[in-house]
Amino acid sequence: MEFSRRAHAITPFYAMEFGRRAAELEATGVHVVKLNIGEPDFGAPPEFLREIARISDGRPMPYTGALGNSDLRAAIADFSRERFAAPIAAERVIVTTGASAALLLACAALINPGDEVLVADPSYPCNRRFAESFGAQVRLLPTGPDTRFQLDAAAVDAAWTDRTTGVMTASPANPTGTSLPYDDLRALSSTVAERGGWRIIDEIYLGLKDGERTSIAHDDPGAIVVNSFSKYFGMTGWRLGWMVVPEPMIPVAEKLAQNYYICPPTPAQVAALTCFSAESLAVAEARRSLLRERRQLVLDGLAQIPALSVPVLPDGAFYVYLDVSGSGLTASEFCDRALDEARVALTPGKDFGDRDAERFVRLAYATGEDELRAGIERLGEFLA
Ligand SMILES: Cc1ncc(COP(=O)(O)O)c(C=O)c1O
Repeated sequence: MEFSRRAHAITPFYAMEFGRRAAELEATGVHVVKLNIGEPDFGAPPEFLREIARISDGRPMPYTGALGNSDLRAAIADFSRERFAAPIAAERVIVTTGASAALLLACAALINPGDEVLVADPSYPCNRRFAESFGAQVRLLPTGPDTRFQLDAAAVDAAWTDRTTGVMTASPANPTGTSLPYDDLRALSSTVAERGGWRIIDEIYLGLKDGERTSIAHDDPGAIVVNSFSKYFGMTGWRLGWMVVPEPMIPVAEKLAQNYYICPPTPAQVAALTCFSAESLAVAEARRSLLRERRQLVLDGLAQIPALSVPVLPDGAFYVYLDVSGSGLTASEFCDRALDEARVALTPGKDFGDRDAERFVRLAYATGEDELRAGIERLGEFLA
């Protein structure tokens, strides 16, 4: 069988590769502390699970409309207004199979072959793959601690060419855990709008952010704003996300979703209505506080290890972007040896871009406190 050039060209998602290696080690009876994957260990809110049990009674679970269950779209619009100060009509909310399907649909709707798309280096690697799948030339724009590893209006404006059509960015971001101050995000969005470009703003970690949580949908009705049940509600495996799209994009997204996957999973959509109850929101907020405690534990622990430094403190997503250059190892060597010798799984910077990729390692603190303590201790011993 001859596979496509794209299939050959795509690089592995190293976070998953390290997960596979960790699982292989664990199958031999070794305990591995898994700090490689951005997956909260809480599971879905209890009320959601009760609802899944209640509706798993043999009733039919037919397809929903391609844009999602209309009650859920309305509930997400209410949630966006109350939580993220974004007054949006329910018709603009499109329920998707995770944020992943939202990003894929948005790229399908916006990109023509040869279009240039700007993304931050480092950034969430799948964005590049989604855009390239539709023929985009992705241009990585190097970022650093000075802009909290975020794209800003000045960088995008300077990089814009005749071939540039849009920008994909996330705030708070993966792998750095850092967000762009809201005014800067708004400036970025309006710079792209002035250039006549589209902007996909991924807010999958916005629910977990410290302090103000305003969505760009508050100010920019032309932005495509992506979110998900995966992180704030801890529902990774239930595969449910959403995006808020500009009005003209609604029928386009509908056609594409009908063809690509018909609809997101019906049981998850029905039960997800419970996520916006007072009980479930209180659970999600309590977990947000817990994640902040975990972050402090990790930052305090890392501060005791002289070979490691954290140039920008995370303020939202549950990641720390660690500078490992003080260890004398490249990031790839560091991750290989941390797994083999210290039994700690991490993700090397090369997953997220090229700039300083062999200097940085991503640590995800989405796992429990005991595991985090063990992981930091093992890293400390390994480096000593
Ligand atoms: C920035 C970002 N966007 C999107 C996703 C995909 O999330 P989902 O599980 O909703 O498909 C992730 C997953 O880690 C992510 O970090």
